[in-house]
Amino acid sequence: MLYRLLVFGYGKVGRAFVNELSSRKNLLEDDYLISGIVTTKGVMKEVREQFSVDYHADPFTALNKESPDIIVDAMPGNYSDGEPSKSLYIEALKNGIHVITCNKAPLALFYWDIVRYVGKGKLGFQATVMSGTPSVNLYRIVGPLKVHSIRGILNSTTNFILTKMSEGLSYDEVLRMAVELGLAEPEPSLDISGIDAAAKLAILSNFILRKKITINDIHVEGVPKNPRGKMKLIAYADRDTAYVKPEEIESHDIFFNVNDSMNALTLKGDIQDITIIGVGGGPRSAALGMLSDLTLITRYRT
Ligand SMILES: NC(=O)c1ccc[n+]([C@@H]2O[C@H](COP(=O)([O-])OP(=O)(O)OC[C@H]3O[C@@H](n4cnc5c(N)ncnc54)[C@H](OP(=O)(O)O)[C@@H]3O)[C@@H](O)[C@H]2O)c1
Repeated sequence: MLYRLLVFGYGKVGRAFVNELSSRKNLLEDDYLISGIVTTKGVMKEVREQFSVDYHADPFTALNKESPDIIVDAMPGNYSDGEPSKSLYIEALKNGIHVITCNKAPLALFYWDIVRYVGKGKLGFQATVMSGTPSVNLYRIVGPLKVHSIRGILNSTTNFILTKMSEGLSYDEVLRMAVELGLAEPEPSLDISGIDAAAKLAILSNFILRKKITINDIHVEGVPKNPRGKMKLIAYADRDTAYVKPEEIESHDIFFNVNDSMNALTLKGDIQDITIIGVGGGPRSAALGMLSDLTLITRYRT
């Protein structure tokens, strides 16, 4: 079957998604056609490396005009009101259009306001948490497990910084190194403050634990400038609590060797615990997360 995709955002992740989709056609069962790419400048109708505008339109006009089968959101997160993504998802889902997103903010703020419109149109958001390493989609396949708590290392930048500081480097040295390696933005305040990890924890708490919380309900502490021992920025939630804070890790802890930019997630369940460890960021990994949503949504359609 042929699906028409409208992609919002042609930055690092949007480009990676478009490239990986085109180079992996032989690994996908269905056919996908990019019917347009939308940026702040307007809409480009066919894929070109250099973005150029074929017609001017805002995201909503583009959605109505193109009427795609699936939209892919690779726009930046807006932590004040989740827009324009939040309204875009609702408009798409109401019309039976599938939504795939790597943008955390709308779901971290308005999870239940958005998922109430899921029906004929499905919502894929694997890439919002741990990018291509299954977190959301891990739970999609172990849904019958009753999960009591979730615990994770959900931010690559802060794990890299804390790992290198435990090896003796100073905060400022490590931050410079993280920016040079492309692991951190020049102004990585959302990472360092713990907000990025809290957004991911809010999404997992709603999806897995069915907690009705937003990022604003999570107690958040960021990276300490003078950590003691081997610390990790731990995101934790159970029925009663949800927090992100630095914790000293013992050597028997399963997270002890999750170092540098690696991420990890443990689901503590009634039958068994499950831990998954893997790359948690980067444009190609985010693209993989969105491609896995694509195959889940289209292959297991009802
Ligand atoms: N980078 C990663 O490793 C990673 C991993 C997982 C998830 N994510 C998420 O992926 C998303 C995109 O990140 P990125 O690094 O690719 O960002 P980016 O390089 O800054 O690209 C953002 C793109 O979105 C477009 N855009 C911004 N506001 C828009 C609007 N109102 N309407 C239409 N287009 C708009 C921009 O248009 P212009 O080109 O016209 O400015 C640009 O093409 C973010 O939500 C991020 O949290 C990133």
